[in-house]
Amino acid sequence: LCGVHDWTSGFFPGSLWYAYELTGNDTLKTQAIQYTNLLNPVRYYKGTHDLGFMINCSYGNAERLAPNDTIAAVMRETADNLCGRFNDSISAIRSWDFGTWNFPVIIDNMMNLDLLFNVAKATGDNKYKDIAIKHAMTTMNNHFRPDYTCWHVVSYNNDGTVERKQTHQGKNDDSSWARGQAWAVYGYTACYRETNDSTFLNFAIKVADMIMDRVKTDDAIPYWDYDAPVTEETPRDASAASVTASALIELSTMVPDGQKYLDYAEKILKSLSSDAYLAKVGDNQGYILMHSVGSLPNGSEIDTPLNYADYYYLEALKRFMELKKLRVEHGELKMIQ
Ligand code: GLY
Repeated sequence: LCGVHDWTSGFFPGSLWYAYELTGNDTLKTQAIQYTNLLNPVRYYKGTHDLGFMINCSYGNAERLAPNDTIAAVMRETADNLCGRFNDSISAIRSWDFGTWNFPVIIDNMMNLDLLFNVAKATGDNKYKDIAIKHAMTTMNNHFRPDYTCWHVVSYNNDGTVERKQTHQGKNDDSSWARGQAWAVYGYTACYRETNDSTFLNFAIKVADMIMDRVKTDDAIPYWDYDAPVTEETPRDASAASVTASALIELSTMVPDGQKYLDYAEKILKSLSSDAYLAKVGDNQGYILMHSVGSLPNGSEIDTPLNYADYYYLEALKRFMELKKLRVEHGELKMIQ
């Protein structure tokens, strides 16, 4: 559980929408509507870039599956507030309002762009899309190292030059924090879906190839940071794996050699769906997946369930089932004829 202004507030309503979509169970739909409506006050919130996570995962799925005028208004007002955090000289959306950075942008911010893309399509107003593209380009130019791993935080001076490159949740400034790499491949895959610009596709491919090369675990579930020393106790991050699986399923549909991405995503999904990560019903405080990491350096949420691990796992399952023409009927998995 969390308050509506927490960055993770959209994931439980979003999981209910995916669970409804996967099963057709109307009770889940009723719950999805109720939990989505609880987030209505977020439409007035301007204090973070996480508005995309919060509203696109909840209201965004509601808009897809049960649209109405209120949902559209919440999406538009929230997108306006997210655009209000865009700085023209820096050509990026500001992530955080806390800390000592001048203008911090974190790689996670790539995930907030889908809200802007969706509102651009719904309203026909390209200003939302233009801001998303500019943010993605600035991030591409400054967040990545030559090997396509990324820094977590890049802070800018007011003239758009880089002030600092750091980590906040990774092992050290120059390490590769696992979830950050996952946000990157997901974000650039989405940018290609929405723009058809091969710059984004080529970049997503580079990041995907880097992830597949750098994650050395047998089950393809990464340690919390690629550069963390590996011992028996080093925690895995199932959330990074579920985000990666969802992104790679989508990427697999965009390129001629997509099978390798689909195979890798399937391997992740098999691992997450095994006893090692998938909780028994009634265990794990009601969450689906075990073994994620929120912020190890801050001593927070280490080897624990996380609601976004569940959300992107369900999204990945939905994408996988659509691709394989599978659906659930009366609790049984069936091929669509
Ligand atoms: N967006 C915060 C995180 O990935 O932990």
